[in-house]
Amino acid sequence: MKRLAPSILSADFSRLGEDVKRIEKAGAHLVHVDVMDGHFVPNITIGPAVMKSLVGQTSLPFDVHLMISDPDKYAPLFVTEQTEFITVHAEACTHLHRTLQSIKALGVKAGVALNPATPLSAVEYVLDLADLVLVMSVNPGFGGQSFIPSALRKVRELAEIREKNGYAFEIEIDGGVGLSNMAEVSAAGVDIAVAGSAVYGAEDIDARVKQLVELMG
Ligand code: DX5
Ligand code: ZN
Repeated sequence: MKRLAPSILSADFSRLGEDVKRIEKAGAHLVHVDVMDGHFVPNITIGPAVMKSLVGQTSLPFDVHLMISDPDKYAPLFVTEQTEFITVHAEACTHLHRTLQSIKALGVKAGVALNPATPLSAVEYVLDLADLVLVMSVNPGFGGQSFIPSALRKVRELAEIREKNGYAFEIEIDGGVGLSNMAEVSAAGVDIAVAGSAVYGAEDIDARVKQLVELMG
């Protein structure tokens, strides 16, 4: 089943509880949590304490996207009973295979993310281990940026590799996804689509979630 993961980066931080309840009611499937450390990316956002405050506010699973330089050190802090994925950036991991193994050992699914300029070959040898591959379709750091079209080619190639080898990972896309490109993104082979500004920037958030879910097919 295809899933929509609204990013709370574009939510109202003073009412996060309400904002996650709202997307759950409207039919979203995951809460995408963008963690930035001001080092791997030029922005600082949500830490473990804020994420943990959302446990029980919604029953949706958490999809944690770590845009940080030292994921081995901090990944365990993001484990909760609602954490489904913890995703690290390939560019931030010296020992990516070991990092993915450690995340799985925490009892959650392990994802690996690729910046727009990073080739698929960077993750070729961990595709049997990864539960999720996150294709960045903007340069990470901020919500509301424009979709980088080459990400679609990356998604298609990834879907082909998965098919050819019988791998089980899910494919996620993150950045600049909205009404105008959701159908195309989904058709390229995406299983999980992140949408931040397209959801929380909408006048009618409920209606927007429903529209995006429908466009995913
Ligand atoms: C970018 C983040 C994204 C971002 C998506 O660094 O990883 O999750 O919030 O926001 P939109 O959908 O507005 O591009
Ligand atoms: Zn993200």
